[in-house]
Amino acid sequence: MSTEPITTAVEITDEEMRSIQDAIMKRYGIDFFNYEPKSFKRRLQRIYRKFNFKSSFDLWSRALKDKDFVHEFINEVSVGLTSLFRDPEFWKTYKSLCKSQFKDQYRINVWHAGCSSGEEIYTTAIVWDQLNFLDKVKSTATDISSRSLAQAESGSILKAKLPEYDRNLKEFDSSINIHDYFDEDKDEIVFREKYLQNVKFKNSNLIMEDYGVHQYDIIFCRNVLIYFDGPAKEKVIEKIYNALKPGGFFIIGFLDSMLSYLDEDKFEYYDLRQRIFRKKN
Ligand SMILES: C[S@@+](CC[C@H](N)C(=O)[O-])C[C@H]1O[C@@H](n2cnc3c(N)ncnc32)[C@H](O)[C@@H]1O
Repeated sequence: MSTEPITTAVEITDEEMRSIQDAIMKRYGIDFFNYEPKSFKRRLQRIYRKFNFKSSFDLWSRALKDKDFVHEFINEVSVGLTSLFRDPEFWKTYKSLCKSQFKDQYRINVWHAGCSSGEEIYTTAIVWDQLNFLDKVKSTATDISSRSLAQAESGSILKAKLPEYDRNLKEFDSSINIHDYFDEDKDEIVFREKYLQNVKFKNSNLIMEDYGVHQYDIIFCRNVLIYFDGPAKEKVIEKIYNALKPGGFFIIGFLDSMLSYLDEDKFEYYDLRQRIFRKKN
Protein backbone atom coordinates (compact mmCIF):
# COMPACT_ATOMS: atom_id res chain seq x y z
CA MET A 1 0.00 0.00 0.00
CA SER A 2 1.29 3.50 -0.82
CA THR A 3 2.50 5.59 2.12
CA GLU A 4 2.37 8.83 0.09
CA PRO A 5 0.22 11.46 1.83
CA ILE A 6 -2.90 12.25 -0.14
CA THR A 7 -2.93 15.95 -0.98
CA THR A 8 -5.82 17.46 -2.81
CA ALA A 9 -4.82 20.26 -5.12
CA VAL A 10 -6.26 23.64 -4.14
CA GLU A 11 -8.62 24.93 -6.81
CA ILE A 12 -7.28 28.14 -8.38
CA THR A 13 -9.64 30.32 -10.36
CA ASP A 14 -8.61 32.41 -13.36
CA GLU A 15 -9.21 35.50 -11.28
CA GLU A 16 -6.91 34.33 -8.50
CA MET A 17 -4.26 33.39 -11.03
CA ARG A 18 -4.44 36.87 -12.58
CA SER A 19 -4.23 38.55 -9.17
CA ILE A 20 -1.02 36.59 -8.44
CA GLN A 21 0.45 37.46 -11.85
CA ASP A 22 -0.52 41.07 -11.19
CA ALA A 23 1.16 41.09 -7.76
CA ILE A 24 4.38 39.65 -9.21
CA MET A 25 4.33 42.18 -12.05
CA LYS A 26 3.70 45.15 -9.73
CA ARG A 27 6.19 44.12 -7.06
CA TYR A 28 9.01 42.78 -9.27
CA GLY A 29 8.23 43.91 -12.81
CA ILE A 30 8.24 40.27 -13.99
CA ASP A 31 5.65 39.37 -16.57
CA PHE A 32 3.99 35.97 -16.18
CA PHE A 33 0.72 36.97 -17.85
CA ASN A 34 1.54 35.11 -21.03
CA TYR A 35 1.96 31.66 -19.60
CA GLU A 36 -0.49 29.03 -20.75
CA PRO A 37 -3.18 29.15 -17.97
CA LYS A 38 -3.60 25.40 -17.33
CA SER A 39 0.08 24.66 -16.90
CA PHE A 40 0.62 27.88 -14.93
CA LYS A 41 -2.10 26.82 -12.49
CA ARG A 42 -0.47 23.42 -12.07
CA ARG A 43 2.78 25.15 -11.16
CA LEU A 44 0.97 27.41 -8.70
CA GLN A 45 -0.50 24.33 -7.08
CA ARG A 46 3.01 22.95 -6.66
CA ILE A 47 4.03 26.20 -4.98
CA TYR A 48 1.01 26.01 -2.65
CA ARG A 49 2.07 22.53 -1.60
CA LYS A 50 5.71 23.43 -1.13
CA PHE A 51 5.04 26.56 0.96
CA ASN A 52 1.93 25.23 2.58
CA PHE A 53 -0.22 28.05 1.24
CA LYS A 54 -3.92 27.55 1.81
CA SER A 55 -5.16 30.18 -0.63
CA SER A 56 -4.01 32.60 -3.29
CA PHE A 57 -4.09 35.28 -0.60
CA ASP A 58 -1.23 33.49 1.25
CA LEU A 59 0.86 33.44 -1.91
CA TRP A 60 -0.11 36.96 -2.88
CA SER A 61 0.80 38.46 0.51
CA ARG A 62 4.09 36.51 0.68
CA ALA A 63 5.00 37.78 -2.79
CA LEU A 64 4.34 41.35 -1.70
CA LYS A 65 6.16 41.14 1.65
CA ASP A 66 9.18 38.94 0.98
CA LYS A 67 11.35 40.15 -1.85
CA ASP A 68 13.46 36.96 -1.93
CA PHE A 69 10.37 34.85 -2.47
CA VAL A 70 10.29 35.80 -6.15
CA HIS A 71 13.38 33.67 -6.84
CA GLU A 72 11.70 30.62 -5.32
CA PHE A 73 8.60 31.45 -7.28
CA ILE A 74 10.45 31.65 -10.59
CA ASN A 75 12.32 28.43 -9.90
CA GLU A 76 9.09 26.59 -9.23
CA VAL A 77 7.14 28.11 -12.11
CA SER A 78 9.76 27.26 -14.71
CA VAL A 79 10.17 23.58 -15.36
CA GLY A 80 13.69 22.65 -16.33
CA LEU A 81 13.26 19.20 -17.81
CA THR A 82 16.29 18.57 -20.01
CA SER A 83 18.88 15.97 -20.89
CA LEU A 84 22.29 15.48 -22.44
CA PHE A 85 21.83 14.72 -26.16
CA ARG A 86 18.08 14.96 -25.73
CA ASP A 87 16.60 13.54 -28.96
CA PRO A 88 19.82 12.01 -30.35
CA GLU A 89 18.53 12.02 -33.97
CA PHE A 90 18.20 15.79 -33.79
CA TRP A 91 21.84 16.13 -32.75
CA LYS A 92 22.99 14.03 -35.71
CA THR A 93 21.15 16.37 -38.07
CA TYR A 94 22.47 19.39 -36.19
CA LYS A 95 26.05 18.21 -36.48
CA SER A 96 25.86 17.76 -40.23
CA LEU A 97 24.11 21.12 -40.58
CA CYS A 98 26.94 22.86 -38.73
CA LYS A 99 29.57 21.01 -40.70
CA SER A 100 28.10 22.01 -44.03
CA GLN A 101 27.00 25.56 -43.17
CA PHE A 102 29.72 26.87 -40.88
CA LYS A 103 32.89 25.13 -42.00
CA ASP A 104 34.32 28.28 -43.55
CA GLN A 105 32.85 30.80 -41.16
CA TYR A 106 35.31 32.52 -38.84
CA ARG A 107 32.89 33.20 -35.98
CA ILE A 108 29.61 31.50 -35.01
CA ASN A 109 27.25 33.24 -32.58
CA VAL A 110 24.81 31.01 -30.77
CA TRP A 111 22.07 31.70 -28.26
CA HIS A 112 20.58 29.06 -26.00
CA ALA A 113 17.30 30.64 -24.87
CA GLY A 114 15.89 28.70 -21.90
CA CYS A 115 19.04 26.66 -21.33
CA SER A 116 17.82 25.11 -18.06
CA SER A 117 20.54 23.31 -16.09
CA GLY A 118 22.97 23.33 -19.01
CA GLU A 119 22.73 19.92 -20.68
CA GLU A 120 21.87 21.52 -24.05
CA ILE A 121 25.00 23.69 -23.78
CA TYR A 122 27.27 20.75 -22.85
CA THR A 123 25.81 18.79 -25.75
CA THR A 124 26.55 21.52 -28.29
CA ALA A 125 30.05 21.99 -26.85
CA ILE A 126 30.74 18.29 -27.46
CA VAL A 127 29.50 18.68 -31.04
CA TRP A 128 31.68 21.80 -31.52
CA ASP A 129 34.65 19.89 -30.18
CA GLN A 130 34.03 17.02 -32.59
CA LEU A 131 33.91 19.51 -35.47
CA ASN A 132 36.95 21.44 -34.20
CA PHE A 133 34.78 24.55 -33.94
CA LEU A 134 35.21 25.25 -30.21
CA ASP A 135 37.44 28.29 -30.75
CA LYS A 136 35.14 30.00 -33.20
CA VAL A 137 31.87 29.63 -31.32
CA LYS A 138 30.61 32.31 -28.95
CA SER A 139 27.51 31.31 -27.01
CA THR A 140 25.03 33.12 -24.82
CA ALA A 141 22.94 31.01 -22.47
CA THR A 142 19.90 32.50 -20.78
CA ASP A 143 17.17 31.29 -18.48
CA ILE A 144 14.57 32.88 -16.26
CA SER A 145 15.47 30.54 -13.40
CA SER A 146 18.54 31.67 -11.47
CA ARG A 147 18.78 28.22 -9.88
CA SER A 148 18.93 26.47 -13.27
CA LEU A 149 21.41 29.00 -14.56
CA ALA A 150 23.75 28.55 -11.57
CA GLN A 151 23.57 24.80 -12.14
CA ALA A 152 24.36 25.28 -15.85
CA GLU A 153 27.34 27.48 -15.06
CA SER A 154 28.72 24.98 -12.56
CA GLY A 155 28.89 22.31 -15.27
CA SER A 156 27.88 19.63 -12.82
CA ILE A 157 25.46 16.77 -13.36
CA LEU A 158 24.29 14.27 -10.76
CA LYS A 159 25.75 10.83 -11.35
CA ALA A 160 22.29 9.37 -11.01
CA LYS A 161 21.46 10.87 -14.40
CA LEU A 162 24.38 9.17 -16.13
CA PRO A 163 22.66 6.01 -17.39
CA GLU A 164 20.05 8.01 -19.33
CA TYR A 165 22.59 10.51 -20.61
CA ASP A 166 25.04 7.82 -21.63
CA ARG A 167 22.31 6.02 -23.58
CA ASN A 168 21.55 9.23 -25.53
CA LEU A 169 25.22 9.85 -26.11
CA LYS A 170 25.81 6.36 -27.44
CA GLU A 171 22.81 6.69 -29.73
CA PHE A 172 24.27 9.92 -31.07
CA ASP A 173 27.78 8.57 -31.52
CA SER A 174 28.86 5.29 -30.00
CA SER A 175 32.52 6.26 -30.20
CA ILE A 176 32.24 9.10 -27.64
CA ASN A 177 33.21 8.43 -24.07
CA ILE A 178 31.42 10.69 -21.58
CA HIS A 179 34.56 10.71 -19.42
CA ASP A 180 36.48 12.49 -22.18
CA TYR A 181 34.39 15.55 -21.37
CA PHE A 182 33.48 15.24 -17.69
CA ASP A 183 35.61 14.83 -14.58
CA GLU A 184 34.26 12.59 -11.91
CA ASP A 185 33.49 13.98 -8.47
CA LYS A 186 31.82 12.26 -5.52
CA ASP A 187 28.16 12.38 -6.52
CA GLU A 188 28.58 14.37 -9.68
CA ILE A 189 30.36 14.55 -12.97
CA VAL A 190 31.66 18.00 -13.89
CA PHE A 191 31.94 19.31 -17.44
CA ARG A 192 35.51 20.45 -18.10
CA GLU A 193 35.91 24.20 -17.89
CA LYS A 194 37.69 24.58 -21.24
CA TYR A 195 34.48 23.60 -23.04
CA LEU A 196 32.52 26.40 -21.36
CA GLN A 197 34.98 29.22 -21.68
CA ASN A 198 33.20 30.87 -24.61
CA VAL A 199 29.75 30.67 -23.00
CA LYS A 200 28.23 33.75 -21.34
CA PHE A 201 25.43 33.00 -18.87
CA LYS A 202 22.65 35.50 -18.27
CA ASN A 203 19.52 35.48 -16.16
CA SER A 204 16.68 36.88 -18.24
CA ASN A 205 13.03 36.63 -19.13
CA LEU A 206 12.39 35.88 -22.80
CA ILE A 207 9.15 37.80 -22.74
CA MET A 208 10.67 41.02 -21.50
CA GLU A 209 14.21 41.19 -22.80
CA ASP A 210 15.55 42.97 -25.85
CA TYR A 211 17.25 40.43 -28.14
CA GLY A 212 19.07 42.84 -30.47
CA VAL A 213 19.20 42.70 -34.27
CA HIS A 214 21.10 40.41 -36.67
CA GLN A 215 23.25 38.97 -33.94
CA TYR A 216 22.97 35.21 -34.07
CA ASP A 217 23.74 32.43 -36.52
CA ILE A 218 21.81 29.92 -34.42
CA ILE A 219 19.10 30.36 -31.79
CA PHE A 220 18.02 27.39 -29.72
CA CYS A 221 14.67 27.79 -28.06
CA ARG A 222 13.80 24.16 -27.42
CA ASN A 223 10.87 23.20 -25.25
CA VAL A 224 10.47 26.72 -23.85
CA LEU A 225 7.72 28.29 -25.93
CA ILE A 226 5.43 25.47 -24.87
CA TYR A 227 4.76 27.48 -21.70
CA PHE A 228 3.60 30.60 -23.53
CA ASP A 229 0.19 31.52 -24.87
CA GLY A 230 -0.40 32.45 -28.55
CA PRO A 231 0.31 36.21 -28.40
CA ALA A 232 3.49 35.64 -26.37
CA LYS A 233 4.70 33.00 -28.85
CA GLU A 234 4.13 35.46 -31.69
CA LYS A 235 6.01 38.20 -29.87
CA VAL A 236 8.98 35.97 -29.02
CA ILE A 237 9.17 34.56 -32.56
CA GLU A 238 9.13 38.07 -34.03
CA LYS A 239 12.00 39.11 -31.75
CA ILE A 240 13.92 35.90 -32.54
CA TYR A 241 13.43 36.58 -36.25
CA ASN A 242 14.97 40.05 -35.83
CA ALA A 243 17.80 38.73 -33.66
CA LEU A 244 18.85 36.14 -36.25
CA LYS A 245 21.25 37.01 -39.04
CA PRO A 246 19.78 36.47 -42.51
CA GLY A 247 20.05 32.74 -43.18
CA GLY A 248 20.36 32.04 -39.44
CA PHE A 249 18.84 28.93 -37.86
CA PHE A 250 16.00 28.80 -35.35
CA ILE A 251 15.63 25.54 -33.47
CA ILE A 252 12.63 24.54 -31.38
CA GLY A 253 11.77 21.36 -29.49
CA PHE A 254 9.52 18.45 -30.33
CA LEU A 255 7.13 19.58 -27.60
CA ASP A 256 6.69 23.06 -29.05
CA SER A 257 3.53 23.03 -31.12
CA MET A 258 3.92 26.28 -32.94
CA LEU A 259 4.19 25.72 -36.67
CA SER A 260 1.13 27.90 -37.19
CA TYR A 261 3.03 30.82 -35.65
CA LEU A 262 5.90 30.64 -38.13
CA ASP A 263 5.33 33.02 -41.00
CA GLU A 264 6.30 31.40 -44.32
CA ASP A 265 7.55 34.76 -45.60
CA LYS A 266 10.05 34.88 -42.79
CA PHE A 267 11.13 31.31 -42.14
CA GLU A 268 11.72 28.32 -44.35
CA TYR A 269 11.83 24.73 -43.17
CA TYR A 270 15.40 23.48 -43.09
CA ASP A 271 14.36 20.19 -41.48
CA LEU A 272 10.78 20.05 -40.34
CA ARG A 273 11.11 16.68 -38.65
CA GLN A 274 13.94 17.91 -36.47
CA ARG A 275 12.25 21.30 -35.97
CA ILE A 276 15.00 23.34 -37.61
CA PHE A 277 13.95 26.54 -39.40
CA ARG A 278 15.90 29.09 -41.33
CA LYS A 279 15.45 32.83 -41.56
CA LYS A 280 14.75 33.82 -45.14
CA ASN A 281 17.12 36.35 -46.64
C1 LIG B 1 11.94 22.30 -20.42
S1 LIG B 1 13.31 23.35 -20.16
C2 LIG B 1 14.12 23.20 -21.71
C3 LIG B 1 15.59 23.11 -21.57
C4 LIG B 1 16.36 22.89 -22.88
N1 LIG B 1 16.13 23.96 -23.81
C5 LIG B 1 16.00 21.56 -23.49
O1 LIG B 1 15.17 21.48 -24.41
O2 LIG B 1 16.53 20.54 -23.03
C6 LIG B 1 12.53 24.95 -20.29
C7 LIG B 1 13.39 26.08 -19.71
O3 LIG B 1 12.76 27.32 -20.12
C8 LIG B 1 12.93 28.24 -19.05
N2 LIG B 1 11.93 29.30 -19.17
C9 LIG B 1 10.59 29.22 -18.97
N3 LIG B 1 10.02 30.45 -19.12
C10 LIG B 1 11.04 31.30 -19.46
C11 LIG B 1 11.08 32.69 -19.76
N4 LIG B 1 9.99 33.44 -19.74
N5 LIG B 1 12.27 33.24 -20.06
C12 LIG B 1 13.41 32.48 -20.08
N6 LIG B 1 13.43 31.17 -19.80
C13 LIG B 1 12.25 30.57 -19.50
C14 LIG B 1 12.74 27.37 -17.81
O4 LIG B 1 13.30 27.98 -16.66
C15 LIG B 1 13.44 26.07 -18.20
O5 LIG B 1 14.76 26.04 -17.75
